[in-house]
Amino acid sequence: MSEEMNNNYKVGDLIYDANIYDGMNTNLADLQFYKRWLPKNKNARILELCCGTGRLTVPIAKEGYLISGVDYTSSMLEQAKVKASESGLDIEFIEADIRTLDLPEKYDLIFIPFNSIHHLYRNEDLFNAFSVVKKHLKEGGVFLFDCFNPNIQFIVESEKEQKEIAEYTTRDGRKVLVKQVMRYENRTQINRIEWHYFINDEFNSIQNLDMRMYFPQELDSYLEWNGFKIIHKFGAFDEEAFNDNSEKQIFVCQ
Ligand SMILES: C[S@@+](CC[C@H](N)C(=O)[O-])C[C@H]1O[C@@H](n2cnc3c(N)ncnc32)[C@H](O)[C@@H]1O
Repeated sequence: MSEEMNNNYKVGDLIYDANIYDGMNTNLADLQFYKRWLPKNKNARILELCCGTGRLTVPIAKEGYLISGVDYTSSMLEQAKVKASESGLDIEFIEADIRTLDLPEKYDLIFIPFNSIHHLYRNEDLFNAFSVVKKHLKEGGVFLFDCFNPNIQFIVESEKEQKEIAEYTTRDGRKVLVKQVMRYENRTQINRIEWHYFINDEFNSIQNLDMRMYFPQELDSYLEWNGFKIIHKFGAFDEEAFNDNSEKQIFVCQ
């Protein structure tokens, strides 16, 4: 696929405005899952790719683990650094693209949480990220990630109307209302999601949240082709087996 295609897809700045992001994403169901898979040995090295504002990085570091976080959005990393220092933690945050990352260290566990792979729009982007993971994983190390299980019925229904999806007040005092519309592109498998933001009761802007959908069979094959062994595939963070009704695809690989 052309380079032009990749440049057309994006996540709007307001979506990764750190306080708008953190105000919306307060659910930590995934944290318990990722914590269960941490090595017992607290000297193990952990790498979180697409760490954002440190929503998971900071609580994992609080458990006494050596964790580093990588993200390419500097405003998100700034917030992560503030949260780490408020908790008295010294966490290494690295500003880099996970498709080209090249670090001197290798890690016992690498994870890409919270649907972040949906922002890898072309197969080439995903494969580059997978080879970055392979390069940085120790022999016998574990690779975890989660994403959605594309639900065609949900997309068809959601295309018909605008839906209110969130209402909250940010840490810096903004009252936020988000309405969502979407249009699925068959050719690219990209769900063109728009979030319409209303701040302090006034329309603010429309922000894109384009998400590449990964279908279950293709993702299983992509992992295998890229040299990973799938140890578990779960459908929810409580570790139920992946099934027909699963909202999520959650992988534990080696
Ligand atoms: C949905 S957020 C997840 C943030 C965090 N892990 C969490 O659980 O809240 C996705 C993050 O992925 C980052 N991201 C997307 N594509 C990336 C890439 N190619 N390289 C580095 N970071 C990327 C974005 O900047 C954003 O912070």
